[in-house]
Amino acid sequence: MGQYGVRIVGTGSYAPPKVLTNHDLEEMVDTSDEWILARTGIKTRHIAADDQPTSSLAYEASLKALEAAGMAPDDIDLIIVATSSPDCIFPNTGCFLQRKLGATNAACFSLEAACSGFVYGFQVASGMLQSGMFENALLVGAEKFSTLLDWTDRTTCILFGDGAGAAVLRRVPSDDNGLLACKLGANGEFAELLGVPAGGTAMPLTHERLDQRLNCLQMKGREVFRLAVNAMVESCESVMADAGISIDQVRWLVPHQANTRIILGVGKRLGIPTERVFMNLDRYGNTSAATIPIALDEIARGELVSKDDYVLLTAFGGGLTWGALLLRW
Ligand code: UT7
Repeated sequence: MGQYGVRIVGTGSYAPPKVLTNHDLEEMVDTSDEWILARTGIKTRHIAADDQPTSSLAYEASLKALEAAGMAPDDIDLIIVATSSPDCIFPNTGCFLQRKLGATNAACFSLEAACSGFVYGFQVASGMLQSGMFENALLVGAEKFSTLLDWTDRTTCILFGDGAGAAVLRRVPSDDNGLLACKLGANGEFAELLGVPAGGTAMPLTHERLDQRLNCLQMKGREVFRLAVNAMVESCESVMADAGISIDQVRWLVPHQANTRIILGVGKRLGIPTERVFMNLDRYGNTSAATIPIALDEIARGELVSKDDYVLLTAFGGGLTWGALLLRW
């Protein structure tokens, strides 16, 4: 451990007002409220308006996080937006967020690690703060997956929602450090299990590809499910071992919110009682990189966590990517 540590000093989140229920989806594809609830745990999800790009969702969450931290936009010297649904290919979504906030002192970039983006981003931001080069980072997970979905594909369109969560991370003396351990992993051999094939340089958009909906998210759900549980359990065990903390000491397990069955499977394998496993995907669906920061904000605002409580975060997503972080709140 060097000279510096990091702490979360403010959180915020935002979900656009439009709510899409399982019953609404029954009108769109061949599905049922019962199937969606039983197989995923999702009841509703939020859908952003046409004039709300990802950076607008990020902006709303960031304003709340800055307010909670008692900070002004120009106090921020680093902005990282974890997203796989950026405003455009480039410039990066962090720059659009910076402009909306007027955070003129910030270096900005976005980070693409799908649903693991916030966990990856936390380690990246922390490393940059702990290097001594930056003091206050705004880390946002923001997604507008509604624009990536094939709304005729019942196997994917029922799963995702739009939203954003933000955290202000501050450089602190090392004896006050809140990031106890981190484990990140990936396996590109599984790249085709989950992603958006067309629209990048490997498969540029053509009319034909648009007709085939190759610009939309595709997922082999069953395979992803199986790999997700193992990877999240193993990364959680790894960070707890590194920090010398047992699961009994963990106040909250905050897993990526993709599927209740995955979350409960991870909780069971780790041996943590369900009351200490945070879940809100019934209301938001899977908001990819935004699930964990939205959850953190709900925990913070609901006063469900006290200073110095241990909070274990874990995520899994396209890439495949995964990881875990152990925080001292
Ligand atoms: O956030 C990134 C990581 N992503 C994930 O973690 C997602 C992981 N995967 C999952 O959460 C689950 O695999 C799903 C929720 C996507 C699917 O659940 P499943 O229990 O794995 O279902 P399945 O894909 O094995 O499909 C079971 C059946 C199939 O019918 P047959 O072949 O048994 O006749 C599907 O066609 O359910 C059918 N089905 C549906 N039925 C009604 C698939 N989607 C639907 C639907 N409504 N929306």
